[in-house]
Amino acid sequence: SGRVTVRTVLESKQQGRPLVMVTAYDYPFARLADAAGVDMILVGDSLGNVVLGYPTTVSVTLDDMVHHTRAVRRGVQRALLVADMPFLTFHLSVEEALRAAGRLVQEGGAEAVKLEGAGRVVEVVDRLTEAGIPVVGHLGLLPQRVHALGGYRVQGRDEEEARRLLDDAVALEQAGCFALVLEMVPRELAALVSRRLRIPTIGIGAGPDCDGQVLVLHDLLGLTQGRVPRFARRYAELGRLALEALQRYAADVRSRAFPTDEHSYHMAAGVAERLQG
Ligand code: KIV
Ligand code: NA
Repeated sequence: SGRVTVRTVLESKQQGRPLVMVTAYDYPFARLADAAGVDMILVGDSLGNVVLGYPTTVSVTLDDMVHHTRAVRRGVQRALLVADMPFLTFHLSVEEALRAAGRLVQEGGAEAVKLEGAGRVVEVVDRLTEAGIPVVGHLGLLPQRVHALGGYRVQGRDEEEARRLLDDAVALEQAGCFALVLEMVPRELAALVSRRLRIPTIGIGAGPDCDGQVLVLHDLLGLTQGRVPRFARRYAELGRLALEALQRYAADVRSRAFPTDEHSYHMAAGVAERLQG
């Protein structure tokens, strides 16, 4: 099948085909995700926690995102490449947001950007789409608001919060988003939003009734250090495999079992003997 575009993402919903999205932060994993045939690859600002070792995503800079997006770009041929706009790059002014998104597209090679939240962000979405930059919205748990929220928990459980999220979702669709990520919201609310919108919803911890799903690559591959959220399924234990491989390597070097002659280069016949003279 051909390249994934904004148009084919929108068509997927009409055709009832679930969208597959996964994060990637570097060239080798971008190649693997693309080869696996995922529809959308997200250079998430989860980069901060997952790859750069920060406690939250608020430390991630625009330069970080551009740098990693460029690496991922080189590994992606078919999937649609989306890059997160990092903390505070779309709140100071519409102009600043346009400039930041422009860098992710122009320098990074992203085909779309993702922004957390609604409210004043809605106008930014409108201006980005007007400028020809496709936008993915993001509602529910907004990790860039971790300090305001005081932690990571399910959003939209009560009626008032749920109504606000539904209104925000409609506003983002009207402003021009072509897809909407829903993070850690009750299954029932995600189902309602998915029915209400024409654009596809992409859930993470939002239940099976979304139009697509996204997971953090390192969660699904078993590469995440420490606790993994309950909504993630681990499809492999690459962290354990990597640790075992490194332990065997260390043991082999210490016991002189590696390297062997197989891993060595040789001089032409007689040269070594003459050198020893
Ligand atoms: O940064 C990220 O990985 C994300 C996904 C969880 C949607 O925003
Ligand atoms: Na993110």
